[in-house]
Amino acid sequence: MRYRKLGRTGLSVSELGYGAARGAAADRAGFLTTVHAALDAGMNFIDTAAGYEDGACERALGEALQGRDAVIVETKYRPYDGWGGDAAYTGSPARLTASAEASLRNLRRDRLDILLGHGMRTVESFDRFMNDGCYEAMVRLRDQGKVRFIGISELSEADGTHEVLQHALPGGAFDVVMLTLNFLLQTAADTVLPLCAKQNTGTVVMMPLNQASKTSGLVNVPAALECVRRHAVQGHLPDEPHYTDPHLFDFLEPYSVPAAALRFVLAHPIGTCCVGARSPERIRANAAASDPPYLDAGRLERLRTLFGGIRSQVR
Ligand SMILES: NC(=O)c1ccc[n+]([C@@H]2O[C@H](COP(=O)([O-])OP(=O)(O)OC[C@H]3O[C@@H](n4cnc5c(N)ncnc54)[C@H](OP(=O)(O)O)[C@@H]3O)[C@@H](O)[C@H]2O)c1
Repeated sequence: MRYRKLGRTGLSVSELGYGAARGAAADRAGFLTTVHAALDAGMNFIDTAAGYEDGACERALGEALQGRDAVIVETKYRPYDGWGGDAAYTGSPARLTASAEASLRNLRRDRLDILLGHGMRTVESFDRFMNDGCYEAMVRLRDQGKVRFIGISELSEADGTHEVLQHALPGGAFDVVMLTLNFLLQTAADTVLPLCAKQNTGTVVMMPLNQASKTSGLVNVPAALECVRRHAVQGHLPDEPHYTDPHLFDFLEPYSVPAAALRFVLAHPIGTCCVGARSPERIRANAAASDPPYLDAGRLERLRTLFGGIRSQVR
């Protein structure tokens, strides 16, 4: 595993982090084993959220990370009343503070390494977050030493061109942002990453496999082809025959689709890339992508030519 600087936080983070978003409620023992496999593979960064499985992910992490204080944990407070892009804004400073206090208890920690406002969907609701006391509450928690670093994550299914982050980053208010970058949504490379570099904001990538399901996403050739088909149906790709060619992804070989997808992300100037996986075998397979130069210029260029025009996330 290799380590990179997480922007102005100065933290040294594994370039692949673990995305602890699911699995704790259904199979707590399997979740603990998987987290330990991630740590054994050299991952020192774990992303979770208060809302994942109603706190079960945080609580299981609290157990898994007992005595592992050096592991960097990022968690989030969601100021919306649901997960969808159309959820209503419900942020309040009191709820944010209560959520952070609950995260501290769940994670069994004296302080949170990183606290993010979770899933900022629109510029309008982000501005409310900044002006209704929520942002000040985060700063207060940081001043009190209960949180080390603060930031926001976006919601790419509602904001495929990263309008919120492009609006938020120039203000320099955040130590860290979490954004989507994968080879089926490359827009952040030209828009968000240069702004992060300018502000020295730490970048945490989410959904490197496009938040795959078994049937659609960057987990194997049929699922990747299905995701391409869905983009084509929605008019996000030119009407060209090679997009329906079952051999479309042959040029990625010898890499598997998920390995190439992780290598694609790691070839960019990001801090850490959080990938979700629910078995130690997958953790070990993914960790093998931490291997410069990750992906050669020819494959990167081909991925850009094929998919660089996509402006919306489809899963
Ligand atoms: N707005 C936000 O803040 C936001 C939104 C979405 C996600 N996130 C964060 O982003 C991170 C990653 O998200 P994610 O887990 O949803 O998406 P992801 O990492 O793009 O995809 C995870 C999926 O890929 C599968 N997978 C992983 N490695 C694999 C491999 N080597 N071979 C085949 N399949 C593999 C996993 O299956 P199994 O689980 O079955 O192993 C899981 O279904 C998490 O930390 C999450 O919390 C944040």
